[in-house]
Amino acid sequence: MACGFGILRVEVVEISLKGEGYHFRTITPNSHARILDRLSTRLAPEDPTERLRWFFGWNVGVGSSIAKNWLKSSTLKKMQSSSNKWKVERRSFKATQTFKSKIRFSTHGDLIWAHSSFPTTESDCIFFGPDTYRYFYFLQKVVDVYLSSCPSEEFKLIDIGAGSGAGGLFIAEEIRKKHATARTHVTLTDINPRALQFCRANAAVNYRGEKIDYQISDILKQVNESFDLILSNPPYMVDLEDSKSAASKEGQARMYRNGGGTLGIDLSLRIISEGAEKLKSGGLIALYTGIPILEMGIDPFLQAFTPLVSKGDMEVLKYEEIDPDVWGEELETRSYSNVERIAVMGLVLRKK
Ligand SMILES: C[S@@+](CC[C@H](N)C(=O)[O-])C[C@H]1O[C@@H](n2cnc3c(N)ncnc32)[C@H](O)[C@@H]1O
Repeated sequence: MACGFGILRVEVVEISLKGEGYHFRTITPNSHARILDRLSTRLAPEDPTERLRWFFGWNVGVGSSIAKNWLKSSTLKKMQSSSNKWKVERRSFKATQTFKSKIRFSTHGDLIWAHSSFPTTESDCIFFGPDTYRYFYFLQKVVDVYLSSCPSEEFKLIDIGAGSGAGGLFIAEEIRKKHATARTHVTLTDINPRALQFCRANAAVNYRGEKIDYQISDILKQVNESFDLILSNPPYMVDLEDSKSAASKEGQARMYRNGGGTLGIDLSLRIISEGAEKLKSGGLIALYTGIPILEMGIDPFLQAFTPLVSKGDMEVLKYEEIDPDVWGEELETRSYSNVERIAVMGLVLRKK
């Protein structure tokens, strides 16, 4: 899995997407595929920023003469000489379109994140998508409502399943904006080693806080410290081979999707039970997750987490529905045959 991420780190800075007007919002895979189809019938754009959006946002494959025109020669040289993560993908788009970025860049406000290119079919892809944006909105609310008096001494937060590092880096910036004297210490964890390489690269361009740690961990099993804030947007789908739209290229569950158990909620429950043991008194868990709502409107997550909250000496500050219906196409699959809808929920817990 060596991918030349030293190069990734340099590229995020060197490509100068930041500060050159580049902006890109990653949309759902189905919508992205539609836009790619549309762009394949269009003439290449004249505008330099739009060219960067085609290449690093939509991941359009281009021929070598276009690539020479669109990209800085230093960038192109690196792409040609680096590992397969940046290389030519001849079969990916059209035979003549030999350069296709294996990395996508998405933005939110002033921040920019590198993550896996489209389509994200490999089992160890680095996720970033509409869920990430909803996660940002949820975290923004957590800062506004529950962190109105953030202590000026070191404030320790951890993002579990950090992926590109999006949530942890975003909230650190929001805390910094709201509380000029706050000293954040951010820990970004993921079970996928590739994710931590992306976290490092993205922190290099986005993080202005005090201290940052990176740790491979299965939820919190390998973490020994305690925190003021534990946040997560964990996988929440059933990503089995029978899931029509979900089966990965390799027939393996994808780490960024597979929430575990028959309903996809097991990792979310582990975050609550393991999180309770790692929270300082008064500390918060902010969990953004998807829940299958069963027939008759039953919420199996609510039923399962309620005893964990009292066992962990915590209280529920908020449990709210953020979106009533996501990934509706999954309802056609066997795994979701008894599910009415998949809802996105935001849960905020406080340790007593
Ligand atoms: C839906 S993605 C979210 C990524 C990122 N937080 C975001 O919002 O864009 C879920 C992430 O959890 C990670 N993950 C999956 N299983 C995990 C586990 N058991 N422990 C820690 N992280 C895990 C995946 O590798 C993936 O990066």
